[in-house]
Amino acid sequence: MSLSPSQIRRLAAAARRASRSSYAPYSQFQVGAAVLTATGRIFTGCNVENASLGLTICAERAAVFTAVAAGQRRLVAVAVYTPSPQPTAPCGACRQVIHEFGPAATILCVCDSPARIETLLNRLLPVAFGPGDLG
Ligand code: THU
Repeated sequence: MSLSPSQIRRLAAAARRASRSSYAPYSQFQVGAAVLTATGRIFTGCNVENASLGLTICAERAAVFTAVAAGQRRLVAVAVYTPSPQPTAPCGACRQVIHEFGPAATILCVCDSPARIETLLNRLLPVAFGPGDLG
């Protein structure tokens, strides 16, 4: 499903705003994410790091889990803002988590310049393992 320019603007703005809550004392890389669900609602998340490092959660997964906790299991789009000159795509773990709830979701990556990536989850994670593979 393709997003309207106003949906894209709203989602990107929500992701950017969410990055302000990021807890990233170790990387100083403050990321924000926003997901648009099939009911038209937007949920946001930020990366939350931990002194043990390995327990860090990315902004995208935080946003997806917030949507699911609110009963929203169908994702139409995920936007991620990174504080970088070029946009960066979600990490492999986040791609797998997005696949669970939005295998055809639009992925929008924005940053501190006008450069952006707009693609689809199934292009970032082809031949994915998912719920249907468990019989
Ligand atoms: N991070 C995200 O939150 N999302 C991404 O797409 C890339 C990486 C976070 C994890 C960690 O807190 C910091 O950015 C540096 O990797």
